[in-house]
Amino acid sequence: MEKQTAVSGIQASGKLHIGNYIGAIKQFVELQDKYKMFAFVADLHAITVPQDPQELRKNTLDAAAIYLACELDPKKATLFIQSHIQEHVELGWILNTMTPLGELERMTQFKEKKESQGQKQGVHAGLLNYPTLMAADILIYRPDTVPVGEDQLQHLELTRTLARKFNSRFGETFKEPRALLKKEGAKIMGLDDPSKKMSKSSLNPNNYIELLDQEAEIRRKIQIAVTDSGKEIKFNPEEKPAVSNLLTIFSLMSGKEIKTLEKEYGGKNYAEFKKDLGNLLIEKLTPIQIAYKKIIKDEKKLLKILADGAKSARAIAQETMKEVKTKIGLL
Ligand code: TYM
Repeated sequence: MEKQTAVSGIQASGKLHIGNYIGAIKQFVELQDKYKMFAFVADLHAITVPQDPQELRKNTLDAAAIYLACELDPKKATLFIQSHIQEHVELGWILNTMTPLGELERMTQFKEKKESQGQKQGVHAGLLNYPTLMAADILIYRPDTVPVGEDQLQHLELTRTLARKFNSRFGETFKEPRALLKKEGAKIMGLDDPSKKMSKSSLNPNNYIELLDQEAEIRRKIQIAVTDSGKEIKFNPEEKPAVSNLLTIFSLMSGKEIKTLEKEYGGKNYAEFKKDLGNLLIEKLTPIQIAYKKIIKDEKKLLKILADGAKSARAIAQETMKEVKTKIGLL
């Protein structure tokens, strides 16, 4: 039977954190054996807010190196940089012409970024059109599924709407892809505030643990992570949101069930639990960091992997675009 296709990306903006790992990258790695997996670094999405050119370049290479360090295997998955496939932008434009302005203005991420960016550098059209480029990133590979964290669900819903719209106007062209969310871990919360998601745009660096954070930093951040009232280590997101978030992280990074952890830590205090969580994160992130350092040193090899990935992705993207252009009457 033909393998199903999965597509997803991460932005090349700032540092990647354990929320990105648990909600997204870890899933990509799990999918690469069963699916035709396309994983990319969304550099064009990163520039929807102003970026320093040197930093953008570094963040893009870093994100690609982290994919590889997390054991995304370029022999199994297609790994590439979004801007290397110009067809994404081409399809993005076409989808823009079919997207009501109101739908883009209603997007939660747009509203949030408009708020935070607007005060700093003003809001540009790219930020508003972010979701149509994302829809193009996805639809162009006609995937069955898109592994993402919960914060991307609204964008995926728009992607499905656009696929339906295109198909009903121009004939069956795109698949309506399903979102693939982890039952737990689709929304890892901030360590400093369990009511908000862990996010690279947080102004407080104690909100997240970066995949490349040093040992002492990891220990410190876990130690000062907020907890809830009471002493019990129990999973109860309503009454104990902070501890439940830490339990989720512990469970997904160790592979142990939350119930098992609750039993293990029954009668123990927060300090013991946090100490073990810090050790666990160090144990899991150290091999990723070692691999990352090796990969990032050999830029030539990394660029070759990305060029090979782009070549495979481009072939499919070009085929889709040919069909799309013919269907809408472009010469
Ligand atoms: P980005 O770069 O913000 O995040 C990358 C992935 O990490 C997930 N994620 C989380 N998961 C769990 N808990 C969290 N706290 C958390 N924070 C982030 C995100 O849901 C995402 O899956 N627009 C996308 C990038 C993108 C894309 C695409 C994704 C561009 N084109 C096409 C899928 C398909 C973004 O900004 O993700």
